Amino acid sequence: MNSEPARMLIDLRELEFGWPGSKSPALCIGQFTLAPAEKLFLYGPSGCGKSTLLALLAGIHWPQTGQIKILGQDLAALSASARDQFRADHMGYVFQQFNLLPYLPVLQNVLLGCRFSRQRQQRARAIAGTPERQAMDLLERLDLGGLASQQARQLSVGQQQRVAVARALIGAPEILIADEPTSALDEARRDAFVSLLFDCASQQQTAVLMVSHDARLASGFDRSLSLPELNTANGDMHA
Ligand SMILES: Nc1ncnc2c1ncn2[C@@H]1O[C@H](COP(=O)(O)OP(=O)(O)OP(=O)(O)O)[C@@H](O)[C@H]1O
Ligand SMILES: [Mg+2]
Repeated sequence: MNSEPARMLIDLRELEFGWPGSKSPALCIGQFTLAPAEKLFLYGPSGCGKSTLLALLAGIHWPQTGQIKILGQDLAALSASARDQFRADHMGYVFQQFNLLPYLPVLQNVLLGCRFSRQRQQRARAIAGTPERQAMDLLERLDLGGLASQQARQLSVGQQQRVAVARALIGAPEILIADEPTSALDEARRDAFVSLLFDCASQQQTAVLMVSHDARLASGFDRSLSLPELNTANGDMHA
């Protein structure tokens, strides 16, 4: 199947991760890959380890065994600061709570996505002339053009969610990671949100890895995987 590790954006092998103090691992995953521009949906019930896996992919937690390569780079080979920079350069995030800065205008919130990455600033310039211009383009595509100077706290939940998407996509990172980004939305808005996210990501060739407990979101993705099926750990995490 996916037998070309150098071409994969994410290539995780023989990973084992246990929380400190726990006798048994929480995650045992033989292989997990994300291809360039792929839209991958990973689902499973609350507590099955979705956010833990995303934190491992971001280099926030550390597996006891196994290897995680992102764009061919072994995360373990990087210093902590190099890992932070690598993450800022190549990965955008949308979290369940969006993590916008409430008193900052929407435009400035979006620009934060490339503030710590010269690479992403350069890519934003190549795409739109300036990072501000790309931020405005993304906001317009996400139907938020008129709200650029509003404080983030003045927006509805659905609007904040789209600002978080613009922030994650500015500077065209190779990978967008979204952790339960739709949990506050009703079904119609959920589908609209996902298709808007796909449109923007596809336009700049950003791959999407989304996790959710809600398997109904799977349609439209290139591939969907059940984390409980992927995870061969039979520890006591659910006990
Ligand atoms: N910091 C931590 N220390 C110890 N155990 C933790 C920690 N964070 C999470 N866990 C445990 O790891 C398991 C997986 O948690 P995780 O947050 O990855 O689940 P999830 O699939 O993202 O759930 P949800 O759908 O509710 O967000 C849970 O049993 C949880 O109790
Ligand atoms: Mg979670």
